[in-house]
Formats: sequence, C-alpha cells, structure tokens
Amino acid sequence: MTELVRFGVSLEKELLDKFDRHIKEKGYTNRSEAFRDLIRQELIKKQWQEGKEIAGAITFIYDHHKRELLNKLTDIQHDFQKIIISSQHIHLDHNNCLEIVAVRGTPKEAQRLADTLRSVKGVKHGTLSMSSTGKGID
Ligand code: NI
Repeated sequence: MTELVRFGVSLEKELLDKFDRHIKEKGYTNRSEAFRDLIRQELIKKQWQEGKEIAGAITFIYDHHKRELLNKLTDIQHDFQKIIISSQHIHLDHNNCLEIVAVRGTPKEAQRLADTLRSVKGVKHGTLSMSSTGKGID
C-alpha cells in the first residue's frame, strides 16, 4: 500500500466555503478525497497533453434508416481498427441506433476518430470521454 502523507494548505475562507459546497453537491464526504481526485484529474490532463496512451469511449447516435450511413460508419471504424478495442451496437428505438466504441491509443487518434464519426451526415450526437489507466498517478 502507498504511504499517506499529510500536508497543510492555506487558502481564503471564501474559496474554501465555495469548494466545500461544490464537493458536497458532488457527493464527497471529505475534502481529502476531493483533493485527491482534483490532483488526479490534473495529472491525467497532463498525460493527455503529452499524448500518452489513454483509454476511452466514443458514443454516438444515428438514424437507423439511412442505410448508406451504416456502411460509412463501419468503413471509418475499419480505418481506425488499430485503436478500437471493441464496439457495441444498441437499437435504441424504431429510428435510432446507439453505438459505443471503446478505444485505446493516443488522445490525438481518439479525438480524430470521434471527430470523423461525428462529422458524418446523419450522426445526431456524439461524445468522447477519455480516461487514463492512471499508471504512476495513484
Ligand atoms: Ni440499430
């Protein structure tokens, strides 16, 4: 188990009050865990900017009735096969399909795939969420 270190932080009362309200809304029961998460987020952001490997998910919704669209989306995924780990297709309702594509690679590649999928006509909405394995930042 990693060694825990205690340290003091000085900040304006007003700022701390705001922070406490904010973390309470987010469901944190103590400041330490909230600080840890903030620090981890910052470090993940840095990994991102340095282009280190990330894992993530691209989620998008599209019109099921546009047959050409399905081929196009599949072609794109074959082009990016190197970074795609898996994908799942969900028939949302009569008109809409939801697809979740799990990716692993550089942030740049993941972003490029997400942008390419999102820009296809008929794709109604798309998001990319990126995470890190957190190696070395626990
Ligand atoms: Ni479907």
